[in-house]
Amino acid sequence: MSTAAVAAGTPLLQTVGLSKHYPLTRSTGAWLRREPAEVLKAVEGVELAVHPGRTLGVVGETGSGKSTLGRLILRLERPTSGQVLLDGHDIVEGGREGTRKLRREVQVVLQDPYTSLNPHQSVGDALGEALKVTGTTPREQRPARVAELLDQVGFPSAWADRRPGQLSGGGRQRVSIARALAVGPRLLVADEPVSALDVSVQAQVLNLFQRLQSELGLAYLFITHDLAVLERIADDVAVLYLGRVIESGPAAALFADPKHPYTRALLAAAPKLGQRRSTSSAVRGELPNPIAPPSGCPFNPRCPAATDVCRSVVPLTTTTPDGLRVACHLYPGSTPGSDAPLDGAAAVPSPLTGAASSPSPAPSTWRHS
Ligand SMILES: Nc1ncnc2c1ncn2[C@@H]1O[C@H](COP(=O)(O)OP(=O)(O)O)[C@@H](O)[C@H]1O
Ligand code: SF4
Ligand SMILES: [Mg+2]
Repeated sequence: MSTAAVAAGTPLLQTVGLSKHYPLTRSTGAWLRREPAEVLKAVEGVELAVHPGRTLGVVGETGSGKSTLGRLILRLERPTSGQVLLDGHDIVEGGREGTRKLRREVQVVLQDPYTSLNPHQSVGDALGEALKVTGTTPREQRPARVAELLDQVGFPSAWADRRPGQLSGGGRQRVSIARALAVGPRLLVADEPVSALDVSVQAQVLNLFQRLQSELGLAYLFITHDLAVLERIADDVAVLYLGRVIESGPAAALFADPKHPYTRALLAAAPKLGQRRSTSSAVRGELPNPIAPPSGCPFNPRCPAATDVCRSVVPLTTTTPDGLRVACHLYPGSTPGSDAPLDGAAAVPSPLTGAASSPSPAPSTWRHS
């Protein structure tokens, strides 16, 4: 977490109503009957902002839409609707120059660098090639820049002639971070970057992310299924459920007093960093079929506080006094046409105290969108 982080001002990266729907292939019978194709809403109306030098953590169970969101931001896929703004400008409308800016300023780190590193190429050659492709460093300066990149990620420069197969998982991830840094980006989209690593190595790589952020002023969109990782690294958190952000806001407020029953369940079940447990086993019940999601609140079949309104009305997003944005009928402003929270439905155990807690009283200033 960067102390120099500046939360105010134009976000480095912002998504506005970002959605990705995948039409599914119809059976021949359905096609002959002219039935409409089913649609899987992988990402739906997502609003996020990443500020310079800060870390936004995105968390959710497997299948909640995290990687699709990452691909949309990297423009590896076209959104069905909505926008991705870089420094306030739409990257799609920015045409070729917009794409060039995106490739220069936003880089990616994936879970398994083994698949993206050429097994026959040495570490030094891989980084040299990245510098050549990006055209940022003249040929004669490349060896020095490769040494600098390796030094930045704590990789011994004497190992520059090693190939990916000769490195540990942590070593390969350091190389892929160095490669992402080659072009001098301002934002890294990191999709489960420590999930495949041994627990002891996870902490080292997270330290590296933090050190690079304070040295280079980098911003991160850090995608993970593991809340414990975000507690360590995120300034802000967005919780995804079936493609929607159901709670978001400052990490300190979210970890101190999460509002959404789903976030509460995740946090109550979350292990400390270093213990293995994924969000897929943390919350009772299965993630519903995304092709036919539940009506009303998508979390209602698994929610201990659900009532009738939850089964029929989609909650709006409302902002709580501690700056969290939550989509849940327990909170005033989230039920369309009503300012009252659900009556008596708030006995959701606090993840920290175990005591049943009501949502905080609703000042008239609560907003919803
Ligand atoms: N190309 C695709 N075509 C159809 N469905 C997809 C495609 N990519 C992802 N999905 C579906 O979108 C949902 C979200 O997937 P994903 O973004 O990979 O989630 P996560 O990264 O959180 O595990 C899943 O139900 C997945 O099966
Ligand atoms: S809206 Fe209802 S079902 Fe959804 S999380 Fe809130 S209380 Fe639970
Ligand atoms: Mg994923």
